[in-house]
Formats: sequence, C-alpha cells, structure tokens
Amino acid sequence: MSARITTATFRERKQANEKIAVLTAYDFPTARLLDESGIDAVLVGDSLGNVVLGYEDTLPVTMDDMLHHTRMVSRAVKHAMVIGDMPFLSYQISPEEALRNAGRLIAEGGAQSVKLEGSAEKFGPAIECIIRAGIPVMGHLGLTPQSVHQFGGYKVQGREEPDRRRLKEEALGLQAAGCFAMVLECIPADLAAEITGSLSIPTIGIGAGAGCDGQVLVFHDMLGWGKTRFTKTYADVRSMIGQACAEYVREVKGGEFPRAENTYK
Ligand code: KIV
Repeated sequence: MSARITTATFRERKQANEKIAVLTAYDFPTARLLDESGIDAVLVGDSLGNVVLGYEDTLPVTMDDMLHHTRMVSRAVKHAMVIGDMPFLSYQISPEEALRNAGRLIAEGGAQSVKLEGSAEKFGPAIECIIRAGIPVMGHLGLTPQSVHQFGGYKVQGREEPDRRRLKEEALGLQAAGCFAMVLECIPADLAAEITGSLSIPTIGIGAGAGCDGQVLVFHDMLGWGKTRFTKTYADVRSMIGQACAEYVREVKGGEFPRAENTYK
C-alpha cells in the first residue's frame, strides 16, 4: 500500500487537475472497504447523527460520539486521509475549546485533519488556533447543516446575487485563514466552479456540480438509503439487505434454516 494521502497530496491533485474522491464512513468494516477501494479521504462526518444514530439532524451529535466513531475508522484506514468532523458547539464557543476538541479528534480519534462549518469571519480565530497547533483544517461552506434552523431547512444556498458574492468572499476568507481544502455543499454548479477557479486550495463538492476539484458523498446515500438530486445510487444495497433479512425470517419460520451443512455433527 502506498504512502498516506496528506494535505500536500490534496494540493498536488489540484495543481495537476486530478479529481479527489471522498466518502463518509463511521465504522471499521466500511472504512476498510473504502480504503481498499482507493478513496483519497474518509470523512467521519457528523452526518453520523442522521444516518447512523437516528437523529433528525446533526445538532445532537457530541464529541464523544465523534471520537467513538473516528477511532473505529482510524483503526481501519492505512492509506486515505481520515478527516474528523467537528460537531455542533465543539468549535463555536472559543478558539481554545476549538483547539482542545480538534486535538482530541487527532490524538484520541486518530484522524489526520478536522473539518468545521462556517466562514472565517465567524470562526477565523478558531481555525487559526487549530492550524497553529499543527492540525490541518478543512472548511465547509454553502448548506452547512449545523445551521439548518437559521436556513429554515435544507435549501440550496447562493442562488441570489448577494449570497453568491458572500460565498465567494467566504471561500477566499477560509483560504486566507489557512484551510487546506473546503467542502462546498448544495450551491449552484456555476458558482461552485467560479469559487473553485478563484482558489489555490481544492474544493470538494456535494450537490455543487462537476466543476469542483473533488466530490464527497454520504456512504449510505450512494447505497440506497438516501435519494436526493445530487446523490447517485451506485448499488441498491439497502434493498439487498432488506431482501436478505426477509428471506432469513422466512427460512427460520419455515424450518429451512439451519440445514445439515450449517450444523455441527
Ligand atoms: O457530515 C458530513 O457527512 C458532511 C458531508 C456531507 C460533507 O459534512
């Protein structure tokens, strides 16, 4: 297995115009499969809250939740970069708390970088404090799910001119604050392409079109659990698991399982 993907790899990919592929994972077996598939980075996203923990949104996810799942992923991943997502209220309160929590995702969780949502205008001091301690930070702009109540729902951002202008400025602000890359979520494709062209650091899009330097998808969304305009079902694993479970129930109830070959003599 080749060397670990680093922030330098991200920079080189952008310079060479090579796309960056990122997926989320929350557990050991999935993370191992992703690493073996040649993925560049595994994001332990706070989407954990929606897709694994059964919450309505990402807001109840705690540092303990993130640490628990980041550890599982880090134990499996040898090649890709592991990005630990900073949950709600882990970086908003003060730069000192942000650094302490980012440091925990690295030291206890085994991640190589962290991601947080929002502009440098709001979180520049926290971002700079984390980076000064030697921890790479990925930014996240556009539809930032931790602000769902402020947005009034999960809506495409940056459709109107003032918002487009603001997002372009925010992207430059995150770059100036030292982020090594940023997620652009649910913004019009032409805006994402314009932002991507204005930056020397890579953009990783989700619902932001093909003009980004890379793409990220939530693992469960690509396997049939979530269907939105910007996801693609690469394999309907959800249906396959559902059918397998129903067949198991039918065979147990019908006395067809276990058979002789499944039984010790
Ligand atoms: O939490 C997450 O999975 C994310 C991605 C959707 C970018 O932030």
